[in-house]
Amino acid sequence: MTMLNQEFVVYRNSVGNVVVFLDQCLHRGAALSLGRVENNCIRCPCSRNQQPS
Ligand code: FES
Repeated sequence: MTMLNQEFVVYRNSVGNVVVFLDQCLHRGAALSLGRVENNCIRCPCSRNQQPS
């Protein structure tokens, strides 16, 4: 999703809350939208790091 010229990744967690992050991993900038949701967190496609929701 793009808003105000920023890319965001959006998903819904297991209790139905919408979670929004900048689509950029804090580690090396990979697009989190290419990762996957695991245990209510989004896993970066670059490694095993997870962003808490
Ligand atoms: S870019 Fe390295 S863990 Fe995401």
